[in-house]
Amino acid sequence: MSKLRVQSFAISLDGFGAGPNQSLQNPLGVRGPELMEWFFPTKLWREMQGQGTGETGIDNAMAEQGFEGLGAWILGRNMFGPVRGPWPDDSWKGWWGDEPPYHTPVYVLTHHPRAPLKMAGGTEFHFVTDDIHAALAQARAAADGRDVRLGGGVATVRQYLRAGLIDELHLAVRPVLLGSGEHFWHDIDAHALGYECVKTVAGERATHVFLRKRA
Ligand SMILES: NC(=O)c1ccc[n+]([C@@H]2O[C@H](COP(=O)([O-])OP(=O)(O)OC[C@H]3O[C@@H](n4cnc5c(N)ncnc54)[C@H](OP(=O)(O)O)[C@@H]3O)[C@@H](O)[C@H]2O)c1
Repeated sequence: MSKLRVQSFAISLDGFGAGPNQSLQNPLGVRGPELMEWFFPTKLWREMQGQGTGETGIDNAMAEQGFEGLGAWILGRNMFGPVRGPWPDDSWKGWWGDEPPYHTPVYVLTHHPRAPLKMAGGTEFHFVTDDIHAALAQARAAADGRDVRLGGGVATVRQYLRAGLIDELHLAVRPVLLGSGEHFWHDIDAHALGYECVKTVAGERATHVFLRKRA
């Protein structure tokens, strides 16, 4: 059965999944990169960026497993880019250059329609203006039995969490205090929604926490 998985989603110790004031200069929001300092030195990330090789420890293994068995992704519009409101034109094609790291269909939730965008390496962005259920149905159909990864950002993961639709969440908890930004847990009772912690793994720069829906 195809699962909906959140993987490698970084949160600060005080629960923020992004810094405030996202912009072209600050894709993760102000101080947001502190959330990803576990990920940047990994072999996976550095090779993806064409920066040679990187570390092959626990953090890298955690990051790598997030890419296994995937057939489609779902993203929120802010994770796709800093453009807000109606798309002025088709020039924004994501943060990732000509060959994004997805290599599958990617369903981007937005209130503003846009034609699909085919990129090199098998990534095709589809802009979904219906609800989260429609995006999941389309992603599952495209994934053809493989899993769907819910990439983020914060508002998007929170909606699927509230709806109880996420099967597995891997959070990379970073020992930093952001103090402001997009809060992951605010007003969400994950226990009441049926989630429990099934595993923790101490990585080099983050603690990896795995949540699952109780049977
Ligand atoms: N911590 C991590 O590991 C991680 C991972 C990924 C991303 N991030 C960061 O998270 C931040 C983005 O998160 P975010 O919470 O600001 O935004 P987001 O979840 O990426 O996107 C929110 C936007 O998506 C559209 N949207 C969401 N749900 C929708 C729905 N049901 N129907 C239609 N449109 C919908 C809306 O855009 P419109 O109304 O404008 O169309 C909404 O404003 C970025 O800084 C990113 O770098 C962090």
